[in-house]
Amino acid sequence: MSPQNTYILAIESSCDDTACAVLENDRVLSNFIANQKIHEKYGGVVPELASRAHQSNIIPVVHEALAQANITKNQLSAIAFTKGPGLMGSLLVGSSFAKSLALSLNIPLIDVHHMHGHILAHFIDDGQAKPTFPFLALTISGGHTQIVQLNSASDMKVLGTTQDDAVGEAFDKTGKLLGLGYPAGPQLDKLAQQGNPRAFEFPVPKAPDLNYSFSGFKTAVLYFLQRETKKDENFIENNLKDICASVQYTLIKILFKKLEKAVKQTGIKQVAIGGGVSANSGIRAHLKSMEAKGWKTFIPPFEYTTDNAAMIGIAGYFKYLEKDFAGLEVTAAPRIHM
Ligand code: KG4
Ligand code: ZN
Repeated sequence: MSPQNTYILAIESSCDDTACAVLENDRVLSNFIANQKIHEKYGGVVPELASRAHQSNIIPVVHEALAQANITKNQLSAIAFTKGPGLMGSLLVGSSFAKSLALSLNIPLIDVHHMHGHILAHFIDDGQAKPTFPFLALTISGGHTQIVQLNSASDMKVLGTTQDDAVGEAFDKTGKLLGLGYPAGPQLDKLAQQGNPRAFEFPVPKAPDLNYSFSGFKTAVLYFLQRETKKDENFIENNLKDICASVQYTLIKILFKKLEKAVKQTGIKQVAIGGGVSANSGIRAHLKSMEAKGWKTFIPPFEYTTDNAAMIGIAGYFKYLEKDFAGLEVTAAPRIHM
């Protein structure tokens, strides 16, 4: 261990996964996640069950992350945690634990915005090229759909956002209509890869400027399925792969229509994606294909796309360099803006 190195332990507990990572500067030494399986049978995250599971997971998860990193807690430089947005009960477990740990070790505490983590995950040292400032980030998750302009690691401007559902919800809700389990996004992605994206046509909802809307899309799919199953009760199972491919194709069309507009308006051609939905194979392939139009694109490795603590660690590292620390009065914030 070199004395000038920074060792940050990061905790992410905003939703249903308890995650802890240890970073040495911008390098990930460990990135451990305990998934909560309990929610599957309810078809969605049950907040009270999530916070209880975080409570029983948090200590073993932190131990495991330290052990895998081969670091003792006395070597740590700071503790980073997700302040929000997310579920209040879940955030409280991570934030309370982080505060107590920082206090007992007498080291700085760093609060991180969950979506900053998703965006700054691109700066984790993984041997790939990094974006330079300014660049655009499309943040797509179960709770967010935004186009963000990054002028620096701490100067982020939201250019457009969803006015209703997030794109992850559009994947999950349409997947649910098709009988897929929760979360439906990854399963819909897998089925879509074997289907025809032009088999069925769905409308692209209208939203002003660089904003998004997805609630009308979900309703359009619902009416379409109701209409078709009236004619053929096996319509969904007979056409599942084609429906999934067509749904995914339309969601990609919606996302990129505004993203292309943002590139034109700002003149910024470096474009990154982040958030759980950026694991989607169609979105990744489409972004890559935009390189033919002169874009420089950045796609995070899979382990840093869906919720994880390494992304909180790298965002914490940037704040550590700025000495941007939190006081012990900091609280979890389920709804905070970028
Ligand atoms: O970032 P994330 O892990 O949690 C939130 O902060 O919301 O994102 C979860 C979302 C879920 O809606 C999930 O269905 C979606 O990401 N997701 C996907 C894929 N993998 C995860 N959606 C489409 N295709 C995927 N491969
Ligand atoms: Zn997330």
